[in-house]
Amino acid sequence: MAVAMDRPSHQPFLPVTTNKSFAAKDSVMTFHIHLPATCALLRPWRPTDAPSLAKHADNPRIAENLRDGFPSPYHLEDAHRFIAMAVAEHGPPVPNAPSSALVLAIDVDGIAVGGVGITPLQDVYRRTAEIGYWLGEPFWGKGIATEAVSALVPVAFDRFDIVRLQAGIFVSNPASMRVLEKCGFVREAVHKNAVTKNGVVMDEVMYARLREE
Ligand SMILES: CC(C)(COP(=O)(O)OP(=O)(O)OC[C@H]1O[C@@H](n2cnc3c(N)ncnc32)[C@H](O)[C@@H]1OP(=O)(O)O)[C@@H](O)C(=O)NCCC(=O)NCCS
Repeated sequence: MAVAMDRPSHQPFLPVTTNKSFAAKDSVMTFHIHLPATCALLRPWRPTDAPSLAKHADNPRIAENLRDGFPSPYHLEDAHRFIAMAVAEHGPPVPNAPSSALVLAIDVDGIAVGGVGITPLQDVYRRTAEIGYWLGEPFWGKGIATEAVSALVPVAFDRFDIVRLQAGIFVSNPASMRVLEKCGFVREAVHKNAVTKNGVVMDEVMYARLREE
């Protein structure tokens, strides 16, 4: 069944607003998606982004909603390490290697102020990918994450041989749930006590969108 048929009427799809200079499985290094409603841009990370990445990511209000792999505090060295990883992820494709992640900066006025990524899972989950995102706090509430996720969904289904795109949201994060609902994701399940973050055990809410037939 198409996901679009599952969505309640109060969870409208945003129109796909991509103006993408991208063809499926092209080099990510030339990848740009313009987000016209918010004037933001999705683009590859660059080494020169490290200071702005460290500045915006160094915020416990961001880290508390993300897995522990997201450093807190977030130092300049963490930013350099992350960007080196992101650049390597987007290197030339290796035949028969597992699909690389798609790891992009959210750029506002030429500055990287957040990140969004698609990570294919492995083994029996190999036709599922996770979507993750964060944004610097000064930019919250402007619709940027919603437009970024909305634009990236078709790219994820285009680029990867997946049938499912999912995100597990900590129950304490209603803003992120709202982003996914606005992007047509379906709230599928509550995984009780699935997460321990900053010493607190909490539920995780699973959202998913399926490839449309
Ligand atoms: C979650 C996050 C990415 C949202 O970014 P954003 O650009 O502010 O999101 P948008 O503006 O597109 O949409 C936010 C929506 O959440 C709503 N919202 C915000 N705070 C809320 C709250 N406490 N309760 C309910 N809804 C809330 C907003 O009103 C808006 O919905 P609306 O358009 O229907 O009014 C950003 O807050 C963030 O980076 N948080 C920390 C990291 C994080 O949580 N990442 C996601 C982990 S899965």
